[in-house]
Amino acid sequence: MTNSQTLSCQAAIEQRRAARAFRPDPIPEGILREILRLGVRSPSGYNLQPWRFIVLREAGSKAKLRACAFDQRQVTEAPVVLICCGDRRVNNKDYIESVITLGAQAGAMTDAFADYMRSAIPHLFEQHPCFESEEAWTNRHTMLAVAHLMIAAKSLGVDSCPMEGFVSAQVKAEFAIPAEVDVCCLLPLGYAADPLKTYGGRFAIEQVCYGEQFGATF
Ligand SMILES: Cc1cc2nc3c(=O)[nH]c(=O)nc-3n(C[C@H](O)[C@H](O)[C@H](O)COP(=O)(O)O)c2cc1C
Repeated sequence: MTNSQTLSCQAAIEQRRAARAFRPDPIPEGILREILRLGVRSPSGYNLQPWRFIVLREAGSKAKLRACAFDQRQVTEAPVVLICCGDRRVNNKDYIESVITLGAQAGAMTDAFADYMRSAIPHLFEQHPCFESEEAWTNRHTMLAVAHLMIAAKSLGVDSCPMEGFVSAQVKAEFAIPAEVDVCCLLPLGYAADPLKTYGGRFAIEQVCYGEQFGATF
């Protein structure tokens, strides 16, 4: 597939694989930007968009990251690696105002909803009824954006490898990541080199989907 061809969403999902080796070919700037643009179309609670991506393209940066990632070769082989982070500070007052302004500029905000956000978001983070820790919350959102990124990338002919094989404290120290920002995964992006690992299969729908209550047949 050449860079100008695109895959349908269905084909991109079917054909995406975790690439463990990459060719050195660069990702054209326009394609990289389009992958990022589509990735951040991902949804988020209150549209808070807590994901943050550090885009590594320089060999020195990737070598530094590989040293924090159990020496996994895809980190230095891939032309681009994203350090995918989630920022816990999105519940601060100024940030909430910036989300309200964004919504207002898009014609999607009322005064009533803005007031609701001002009171409900701090409450959500104080009570956190639907998450155990703030890190669970940042991970929930960032990984959803990572899923968008991977499918968008594949639809544009770009392979990826989601990675949790890294030492978070080392990555944070090396890349000036603040304490309140969680490193959720690494995402090498580029053009896969052969051979790909054999597809490991997926459990049948009946095994992972339940009907009406947990454990009941779908
Ligand atoms: C959150 C997450 C972390 C992963 N971490 C690594 C990793 O550190 N190194 C690696 O080579 N693959 C990693 N993988 C890739 C998985 O091994 C791979 O997705 C899985 O075996 C299924 O293969 P497929 O994606 O090619 O269908 C990770 C995948 C996910 C979703």
